[in-house]
Amino acid sequence: MRKLTNILVTGGAGFIGVNFIRFLFGEGTEKSNFNGRIINLDALTYAGNIASLKDINEKFGSTRYFFEHGDICNRSFVEEIFRKYSIDTVVHFAAESHVDRSILGPEAFIKTNVNGTFTLLDVARSIWKGNEEMLFHHISTDEVYGSLGETGYFTETTPYDPRSPYSASKAASDHLVMAYNHTYGLPVTLSNCSNNYGPYQFPEKLIPLMIINMLEGKPLPVYGDGKNIRDWLYVEDHCNSIWTIMQKGRAGEKYNIGGENEWENIKLLNVLIDIAAKKSGKDADKIRSTITYVKDRPGHDRRYAIDCSKIKNELKWKQTVSFEEGLERTVEWYLSNTDWIDNIRSGEYKRWLEKNYGER
Ligand code: NAD
Ligand code: TYD
Repeated sequence: MRKLTNILVTGGAGFIGVNFIRFLFGEGTEKSNFNGRIINLDALTYAGNIASLKDINEKFGSTRYFFEHGDICNRSFVEEIFRKYSIDTVVHFAAESHVDRSILGPEAFIKTNVNGTFTLLDVARSIWKGNEEMLFHHISTDEVYGSLGETGYFTETTPYDPRSPYSASKAASDHLVMAYNHTYGLPVTLSNCSNNYGPYQFPEKLIPLMIINMLEGKPLPVYGDGKNIRDWLYVEDHCNSIWTIMQKGRAGEKYNIGGENEWENIKLLNVLIDIAAKKSGKDADKIRSTITYVKDRPGHDRRYAIDCSKIKNELKWKQTVSFEEGLERTVEWYLSNTDWIDNIRSGEYKRWLEKNYGER
């Protein structure tokens, strides 16, 4: 039986990491049966926001929740954390995660996603010394599989074909994780998930970017013809699936996770406009008139779609939040957390946007 007692969460101040920690502590909508300790290791890059866990720290700080500020590439620091907290489980979220940024500056992606993952794996190998009760769960993306045409789905055996610096760096990290299992017997599990959305997502990603721009009356930038397709999953359902794999998944196995919920970007945007208009009291047609088609992303993958029958059949996981419900919750969250948004949109992110895109 796995211990899952002293869990090192890397990247726990980012979007999914924050939601995962909240989920484990029973502070989300869905509840978990976790009763151990969380050690959140995060470098607090532009995407990390420790304020997102202020209430968790107040409730559980120094007893069940610990924050450690540092870089996963720093081997001696990672070793110190493993020893200090007797880490028996790693759930590895920390990454550079945005495709557009990987096109503008790929180096940070190689450092964190490839070298950082290698450092964590190698520290786990040297400290755990073949103990099979431990677990290293690696969080990855469906983007490693490349791009689909109009039909078909990614399965766990689809050959890797990453096409952006982001997805290539995640593919490299996936291969390292599986190699550490095959070569050294490190107990690993790996999940490849589709696009997440929900509270605490950094507003460079499609859904929060559009919600915030709608509320502020700014243009809604749609790349290319707006017909690229993504499969969307509410973040709490992703957290739930990760916890399911950590408890019941077979070591050495990978699991696809998805929403079974494909949308063309432009159709999604129209649904989001209706929800945002309803919740904010703004005029939907007026918001719609701000849709602006912009230059396409270089190498823009056309379609992602996940076959997640393995996790459904083997581990009895399923999605619980419908797209409409998830979008409503997300819009409500951004409407009532303007301080969180203002904090992010002042400072570094604002300067980055102005430098790379002008007004957005
Ligand atoms: P995010 O960008 O919101 O957060 C990343 C976090 O990692 C931040 O808190 C950041 O400070 C931290 N970090 C970055 N570099 C670090 C380093 N060198 N050392 C320590 N911490 C560092 O990302 P997210 O959207 O929460 O994604 C989390 C993981 O899930 C990533 O591995 C990503 O590839 C994967 N994923 C994301 C999605 C999605 O839709 N967001 C879908 C599938 C998989
Ligand atoms: P994104 O949220 O960046 O996730 P990913 O590229 O990892 O799938 O983008 C989701 C989709 O939305 C993708 O097809 C690109 C598109 N998109 C826009 O049309 N406009 C935007 O401003 C952004 C950020 C994305």
